[in-house]
Amino acid sequence: MKFTYYGHACFLIETQGKKLLFDPFITGNPLADTLNIMDIKADYILITHGHQDHVLDVEAIAKNTGALLISNYEIISWFSSKGLSGHPLNHGGKHVFDFGTVKYVSAIHSSVLPDGTNGGNPGGFVVWNTTDCFYVSGDTALTYDMKLIPALCPPLKAAVLPIGDNFTMGKEEALMASDFIKCPTIVGCHYNTFPPIAIEPEEVRQYFAQNDKTLLLPKIGESLSL
Ligand code: NI
Ligand code: MN
Repeated sequence: MKFTYYGHACFLIETQGKKLLFDPFITGNPLADTLNIMDIKADYILITHGHQDHVLDVEAIAKNTGALLISNYEIISWFSSKGLSGHPLNHGGKHVFDFGTVKYVSAIHSSVLPDGTNGGNPGGFVVWNTTDCFYVSGDTALTYDMKLIPALCPPLKAAVLPIGDNFTMGKEEALMASDFIKCPTIVGCHYNTFPPIAIEPEEVRQYFAQNDKTLLLPKIGESLSL
């Protein structure tokens, strides 16, 4: 699978010939000002929770690309009222799409939509098909529920975890999460966008390496093969 980072917690994963965009927040991210959202192609937009730094560009990109939204019931209902199409899930449920299976899993966080509407409970996604399996935790604390992922899903090839601390896991918890999910290859996100989540990326990368894990930190706009 191909991973392309668009800054903060937004990235594109290409698998089985489909483009899956996660948590688009680009026009509000000063670090991503070289990107033009009208250049971004997507077949699906997966949304972990309702916060502005995860949904800001959903409507514009979905209207431009015709992408189908995948999120929890409350978030899909909110976007449906804006004329967008989506597939609602809720925690513990999974559904088979044309690129593979998506399971919506627990996250410990909060989830209000930008206008104050209840965004349901926040979540993450595990996505798998015949070639790939990956976990996108969304904004979350470390949680013992992560131990259910290797028990219920195929072996993970990679996982995308927040590392910026303050609003989510920091490096210590992200390292423990990689043990809980039995996945040594982690892509870090949700750091350096705002002052409260400023970190020293190279220091965190070395911290993972010292603990026999790989922390990948692609530049904004950079693609990786996973
Ligand atoms: Ni959040
Ligand atoms: Mn966030």
